[in-house]
Amino acid sequence: MNQSNIIKKDLSNLPVKPNLNNYDKAYSEIKWQELEKNVDFFEDGTLNIAYNCIDRHALSSHKKNKTALLFESSTGEKETYTYLDLYKSTNKFANVLDNLGVEKGDRVFIFLPTIPERYTVFLGILKLGAIAGTMFAAFQEMALLDRLADSEAKIVVTNAVLYPRIEKIWKDLPNLEKIIIIERGSVDQPKGEKIIYYNHEMEKASEEFEAVHMQKDDPSYMLYTSGTTGKPKGVVHSHKDIVSAIATTKYVLDLQENDIYWCTADLGWVTGVVYGVLGIFGLGGTTVAFEGKFSAENWYKILQDYRVSIWYTAPTAIRMLMGSEIKPKEYNLESLRFLGSVGEPLNPEGVWWGLEEFGLAFHDTWWQTELGSISITNFQALDIKPGSMGKPFPGVYGAIIDDEGKELTPNEEGNLALKKDTVYSLMIGIWNNKAKFDSYFNGQWYISGDRAYKDEDGYFWFVGRADDVIKTSGERVGPFEIESALVEHEKVVEAGVIGIPDDLRGEIIMAFVVLKPEIGESEELKEELKMFVKGKLAGHAYPRKIKFIKKLPKTRSGKIMRRLLKAHELGLPEGDTSTLEDY
Ligand code: WTA
Repeated sequence: MNQSNIIKKDLSNLPVKPNLNNYDKAYSEIKWQELEKNVDFFEDGTLNIAYNCIDRHALSSHKKNKTALLFESSTGEKETYTYLDLYKSTNKFANVLDNLGVEKGDRVFIFLPTIPERYTVFLGILKLGAIAGTMFAAFQEMALLDRLADSEAKIVVTNAVLYPRIEKIWKDLPNLEKIIIIERGSVDQPKGEKIIYYNHEMEKASEEFEAVHMQKDDPSYMLYTSGTTGKPKGVVHSHKDIVSAIATTKYVLDLQENDIYWCTADLGWVTGVVYGVLGIFGLGGTTVAFEGKFSAENWYKILQDYRVSIWYTAPTAIRMLMGSEIKPKEYNLESLRFLGSVGEPLNPEGVWWGLEEFGLAFHDTWWQTELGSISITNFQALDIKPGSMGKPFPGVYGAIIDDEGKELTPNEEGNLALKKDTVYSLMIGIWNNKAKFDSYFNGQWYISGDRAYKDEDGYFWFVGRADDVIKTSGERVGPFEIESALVEHEKVVEAGVIGIPDDLRGEIIMAFVVLKPEIGESEELKEELKMFVKGKLAGHAYPRKIKFIKKLPKTRSGKIMRRLLKAHELGLPEGDTSTLEDY
């Protein structure tokens, strides 16, 4: 790479000295054992994420009145919560669950928009030792049913607006005992024998609760995520993850005492959990939570009004901002000092645009739901090669390997893998699916499913997925989920779904649909099918492009050959078609 394409870091120019100021030194010296010291363990060697995120700060004289959460609602109302406030509310909520008979290991799911109660509920569940599951507020019945049925969730916490979607599927959820409704924002509350009201219960609950002592590998939160085959899988994480959440927030996102932090990811996704809650609260920092929708105006205004200094966001949002007529320079964004990006490839133009508009480059970070924290990344103190994901976090060993597990030489493309013992927050399991869990590993390696290469300087470069998983607007979608939704439509026989490149969203979902013989093809039907999937699965995960096709390419054993659909659509070579049935 041409040297002029590298963004050189001059640490003497930074307003604040970074927490990690020499990557090579840090990589050779920092060990996970050392990083555990940032976390408070109980005397018996156990720990609790919620204790580390809230209690230890609330119980200290210098942090208890510090602002933890700066909330702005979609209608512009502002609320502020201190660590002491969250201590009391999470204690109360843990008591509410305790009174309902929720026990350690039970699954309690959260289906809410970004409101302050969502933080209290999430941390209250962890405090009690139950497993917190989070779901994106755009999910519809099918996505909800998949998650709640598979996890056998006992309680769901939601609100009056979202409740009807759960109500419809409740009959198919024998383990779902109670639904807790957060009253905020609605006058008409749903009624029912098994419905409980949050404020009502919180008023009665005690403010005292001692965080349950959890083993390092006891489950803490779970998140359903998509793969190539089958329905979403429940990735289970443990209480020890707080160690790496804190370490990466400190050394990658460079959080320091006086920062105002904003991670734009929703709590329904792993970034929202780990960097919207665990890391920031674990370090006793101050975070912004914004309920409103994305728009250049809304976001710049949040950055300006709250004087955000650390901003962690995603490539699709960056590209949308780049394309907007509203420019960052119209706002006072002088407080910003560190920008991070995650979730999908960040094109070099995005990195350069940041430098041009904010005087700051975006730092691309790579990880996955299964990994639990940033694993390969750029750093404040490391030169950036725009387009590269950077280097492994200290303690993590990353490599490019072939299918046999042999490490490849620089610039050779292969499987991006990590030595499993070096990923501190690696998932502890896939819910009810040991075979799936085992399939991630090849000897000492965790196989990410991403293709990449490493250059001669040790920088990693993303190439693409090795499988059919789609990343659209940074969100992970499995083709099978969309195909399953489509075939539920009465006019559809079968469907094959792929991701195709899109300048704005990274990829968009495209469906090839086989209609029943008597059904005529039309543009209206395409719209109808889009709406149908939106209504079944989720507002964000629907095929933006649909093509009708007479027959799907399949292997002789009946598997849809999505690779071939993609090759035809994009005019790529077909590759090996020896397993293809007559087509
Ligand atoms: C993709 C999100 C390129 C990748 C935290 C990975 C990325 C999947 C990057 C995980 C990046 C994530 N550059 N691709 N910086 N970060 N990805 O589980 O394909 O939602 O395997 O976790 O997103 O998505 P997940």
